[in-house]
Amino acid sequence: MTVFGTGYLGATHAACMAELGHDVLGVDVDETKIERLRRGEVPFYEPGLPEVLLRNVESGRLRFTTDYAEAAEFADLHFIGVGTPQRTGDFAADTTYVEDVVARLSPLLERDAVLVGKSTVPVGTAVRLQGIADWHVRDGVHVEVVWNPEFLREGFAVRDTLTPDRIVVGYGEGAGPDGPRGASRSRALFDEAYAPILESDPCPVIETDLATAEMVKVSANAFLATKISFINAVSEVCEAAGADVTVLADAIGIDPRIGRKFLGAGLGFGGGCLPKDIRAFMARAGELGADQALTFLREVDSINMRRREKMIDLAEEVCGGNLIGRTVAVLGAAFKPNSDDVRDSPALNVAGMLSLKGACAVVYDPQALDNARRLFPTLAYADSALAACEGADVVLVATEWGEFVELDPDAVAAVARGRVLLDGRNCMPADRWRAAGWTYRALGRGVPGRAPTAASRTAPAELLPV
Ligand code: UGA
Repeated sequence: MTVFGTGYLGATHAACMAELGHDVLGVDVDETKIERLRRGEVPFYEPGLPEVLLRNVESGRLRFTTDYAEAAEFADLHFIGVGTPQRTGDFAADTTYVEDVVARLSPLLERDAVLVGKSTVPVGTAVRLQGIADWHVRDGVHVEVVWNPEFLREGFAVRDTLTPDRIVVGYGEGAGPDGPRGASRSRALFDEAYAPILESDPCPVIETDLATAEMVKVSANAFLATKISFINAVSEVCEAAGADVTVLADAIGIDPRIGRKFLGAGLGFGGGCLPKDIRAFMARAGELGADQALTFLREVDSINMRRREKMIDLAEEVCGGNLIGRTVAVLGAAFKPNSDDVRDSPALNVAGMLSLKGACAVVYDPQALDNARRLFPTLAYADSALAACEGADVVLVATEWGEFVELDPDAVAAVARGRVLLDGRNCMPADRWRAAGWTYRALGRGVPGRAPTAASRTAPAELLPV
């Protein structure tokens, strides 16, 4: 099989498929990336992936190329895992990379082939890709497009790929046993690819049509984003009322109908998936005339973006209303721990906003410093958490890396100027820091001993004692 695209998704899929015993050719247009992969190097941080990649490159089961003709000749099953970023100046997803793969590969195919889309795409893309393939393919060659959305999380990519919680696959019209000749073949090839997973650790397999398969993915991400924004909206009310959103989340999360996962209040979601997927979902619904159905996702997006501003407000508050000339240690740059991905990272956004407000933001992240420097070259960066805290008036935790959670408050106090800890992820042991003499503040948690805001105490006039 081949895997087109060698980013977080494609490189992981290629390496894991080889790990399962398949012969895999990874394909990308980026020569530098392919060179590194050939040497067995993963061009990004993903725990566990370097070992799997190297093992399979060394065994010869996994190879990489930029040559589409070689890819066309090599396999009958072609996975597509290229990016579908947000279009510039628009909410919709840019599907040109997926279209390019199909348009370039199809005319080179000399025998029947199955193209398996894994990228997150707007519903209707697979049918369009089938049209592109049919248009470009040689006479007598049959290409079938199927859709197999990917649910892996960065940081757990290898585990999620080798032991998925579900496999969803959408087939085109007439792909049943009586369908066109490609149909039964595509099922056979697809089943063969996933057989080692299903034999060792079975999971539900959902076979459906193309549109449903495409929509399962965006709906899953939209639901996760909604869940995070729900708790962050409640968090805003907690702030006004002097309540504690973490205790509240624990309490509602016990109900299995709700569940505690993805009720982590704080700086909100970022990354290359959730933010752009909810926007692309809204845009596609609009194109389909169903825009009203998803208008609530605008609110999900706004609540999420507001978290970053609330964090700045809190920083301003603890600095006496003015950030000019203050030094803030920003611990974290990646959009989440165990990743070096800084795409739409709340942490880096906050650092950037602090700097715009006149503060000196000194950023540290265990893995994402290089990517952060490329994106925000004018921010100050440090090589360790303690170095970032040197001379800081405020220490702000923006990504919940384990090493930040374990920081010794006394060691930080020995280098920092101020004693204020802002917990943007509700991950720090508040009691420990308070006991060490720190002022601990977090999004969505009232200040002990401080009454709710004046506004929240105001009762309607008719209820006030005369
Ligand atoms: C997400 C989905 O979880 C995957 O299932 C999906 O395959 C992937 O997108 C994708 O479309 O490729 P990922 O972007 O790796 O995965 O990250 P998540 O673990 O979902 O976290 C997303 C963001 O939400 C992070 O910024 C994280 O800090 C934030 N988050 C998560 C919260 O703010 N609170 C929570 O309780 C959980």
